[in-house]
Amino acid sequence: MQDDIAQILVSAADIRRRVKEMGRDISRDYAGKELLVVGILKGAIIFLSDLVRELSIPLQLDFMAVSSYGDDTSTSGAVRILKDLEVSVEDKHLLIVEDIVDTGLTLKYLLENLRARQPLSIRTCTLLDKPERRQVEVKVDYCGFCIPDYFVVGYGLDYSQMYRHLPDICVLKPEVYEQRRKK
Ligand code: PRP
Repeated sequence: MQDDIAQILVSAADIRRRVKEMGRDISRDYAGKELLVVGILKGAIIFLSDLVRELSIPLQLDFMAVSSYGDDTSTSGAVRILKDLEVSVEDKHLLIVEDIVDTGLTLKYLLENLRARQPLSIRTCTLLDKPERRQVEVKVDYCGFCIPDYFVVGYGLDYSQMYRHLPDICVLKPEVYEQRRKK
């Protein structure tokens, strides 16, 4: 597994520090309010579980799973819901939590879909942002790290459902995914 990694891009220690700061910012911004934290499966689960433990406001947790049509490394732009929220968004302040915003298509779809359900407010939070990959404009309210266009795995992010458990954000060696593309 270590052989597949080219470099550590963001260390577990740096992630911990940043997640604490984000938790403080979010808690301050929502002081006196109650939050519905919407985690987007599966990539966001590790970030989300660390982030919510840094929040000092009352909150509920729920999850959505979405899938973009495409192969392992690129998206076609179409998004469908695989698992919807279980709680109602009525009278709730929503915070969508993602692991990464890449083209922006997933987050744009989620924002439009959830906005149509008329919650009190919606904001977005992502651990990683790759601005140079953006295809559609989407507002990121809380961002952990802006990163260059590397293929990253770890801390929830996968390649072909693997590597999610790595504690750091790591750059995958190109030969790992190029090999698979040729198959
Ligand atoms: C990833 C990530 C976002 C989306 C971002 O999910 O978690 O949901 O892609 O890409 P975009 O900005 O180009 O739309 P993925 O489909 O890989 O599923 P996963 O979370 O289960 O890994």
